Amino acid sequence: MTAEPTTAARPSTRRSGPGWWRDAVFYQVYIRSFADGNGDGVGDLAGLRARLPYLRDLGVDALWITPFYPSPMADHGYDVADPRDVEPLFGNLPEFDALLAEAHDLGLRVTIDLVPNHTSHQHEWFRAALAAGPGSPERARYLFRDGRGPDGSEPPNNWPSVFGGPAWTRVPDGQWYLHIFAPEQPDLDFTDPEVVADLEATMRFWLDRGVDGFRIDVAHGMAKPAGLPDMLPMEDTGLLDDHGPGDERFDQDGVHDVHRRIRAVLDEYPDRMAVGEVWVSDDDRLALYLRPDELQLAFNFKLLTAEWTPAALRDAIVHSLAAVDGTPAPACWVLSNHDRPRHVTRYGGGELGTRRARAAALLQLALPGAAYLYNGDELGMPDVDLPDEALQDPIWFRSGGAERGRDACRIPVPWSGSEPPYGFTTGTGTWLPMPEGWAELTAEAQESRPGSIQSLYRAALALRASSPAFEGEGLAWLPSPDGCLAFRRDGGLVCLVNLSGAAVPVPEGTVLLASGDVSGGQLPPDTALWLVA
Ligand code: GLC
Repeated sequence: MTAEPTTAARPSTRRSGPGWWRDAVFYQVYIRSFADGNGDGVGDLAGLRARLPYLRDLGVDALWITPFYPSPMADHGYDVADPRDVEPLFGNLPEFDALLAEAHDLGLRVTIDLVPNHTSHQHEWFRAALAAGPGSPERARYLFRDGRGPDGSEPPNNWPSVFGGPAWTRVPDGQWYLHIFAPEQPDLDFTDPEVVADLEATMRFWLDRGVDGFRIDVAHGMAKPAGLPDMLPMEDTGLLDDHGPGDERFDQDGVHDVHRRIRAVLDEYPDRMAVGEVWVSDDDRLALYLRPDELQLAFNFKLLTAEWTPAALRDAIVHSLAAVDGTPAPACWVLSNHDRPRHVTRYGGGELGTRRARAAALLQLALPGAAYLYNGDELGMPDVDLPDEALQDPIWFRSGGAERGRDACRIPVPWSGSEPPYGFTTGTGTWLPMPEGWAELTAEAQESRPGSIQSLYRAALALRASSPAFEGEGLAWLPSPDGCLAFRRDGGLVCLVNLSGAAVPVPEGTVLLASGDVSGGQLPPDTALWLVA
């Protein structure tokens, strides 16, 4: 039998005012795939609004909603045509305002995506830049350059696009423009004062409406090196690249000026925050983004990229904590998101992957700091192998079919019933196909199953919010059997994860929760345990 919480519910120890985000559990809503409110097979704000009570009951503190702004959807919303409006596919501004008000009434904070690095090619600025021609102030907002070679027919430098192919596209008058991502996502030039001013206007637009903060897309990418020099030649990387030293496209020192501007706007509003998508693996370089006048949080992707081994997980935790040590920021833990294979699948899939994902949930939620869940984590959703004709990610097209892209981790969430579309939509089709065989995975089926992964998440989140064992931001490693990880939080919580191939004895103490059956006094392999001693 899975141990259920044994402590009586206490008033939340969670911060409710300044610094609320320091130990908050955020839930990432990938808007296309969370819930469809209008029957067109694509998730939207109305669908999310209807599911807010589910998220409250799950026990998360805050939402991160991925881009819902007007967009031609070349990168499913990360190509923003107007950052201060709502894409009709997803709803409208009154719908957003209603969602925000209802979320707040339920005690849920709402954070939204900010996409500063680039716009859509359909943004009015880019259309004006194309029309205005070389040397114009309209082109100065983007990175237009003449090409190399006698007739300028070679790209201005050797940068590859993250999505495959060159990072430059030529326009009819012969100039080239930079796009680190898809050609439909031209990069902005942050040395142009208008660009930063517009970002501030976008922030104020949403802060004035009452959002609690932002997730900042490609937060290490807004500044480009002077002169746009060639970088070390490298394979086209896709998002799996680590953006290491020598990759001139990212982590330029100038990006910190942008973060200071972002922070200055946030500081005009009480209790608002920003988390950055910062793909920087060096601890000291990452720490620079967390200085007192920059980001409050930076995703630390080490847990998301770690193999399921004790050495890799311990290393990920040690480095994540080292990166924030000496900064005002807590760590910020991520297991899955809309850009990477889901952890059930990374950990082996099937019954094994699910068992490990259950253990990983207790590991993630035991660590000090903020945590981000990706929609469907709480259901144990795996990736889905899609047929070629269903694929939609620009990576699939840009790589000429060499990379399958990220659709597999973006399948719509199954809510109820025994057949696709599992209550995701009242229509018949879904924007990515949903597989057969998910009847037991639905939120509804899991709700009434005490041993389900959803029940485990609910119990874990309730404990995390109510038990003083989770207080403090310190972590001390404890001796543990070979192949296991064990640590203690300041407040007394002990987390033990068994990554050895054999059962180990359950230590002395009161078990709060376990991800598997510990009734025989043994912690099985690939299982985690919370206790207080
Ligand atoms: C970030 C997003 C990803 C998007 C890219 C370009 O990495 O998470 O989904 O494709 O930025 O905006």
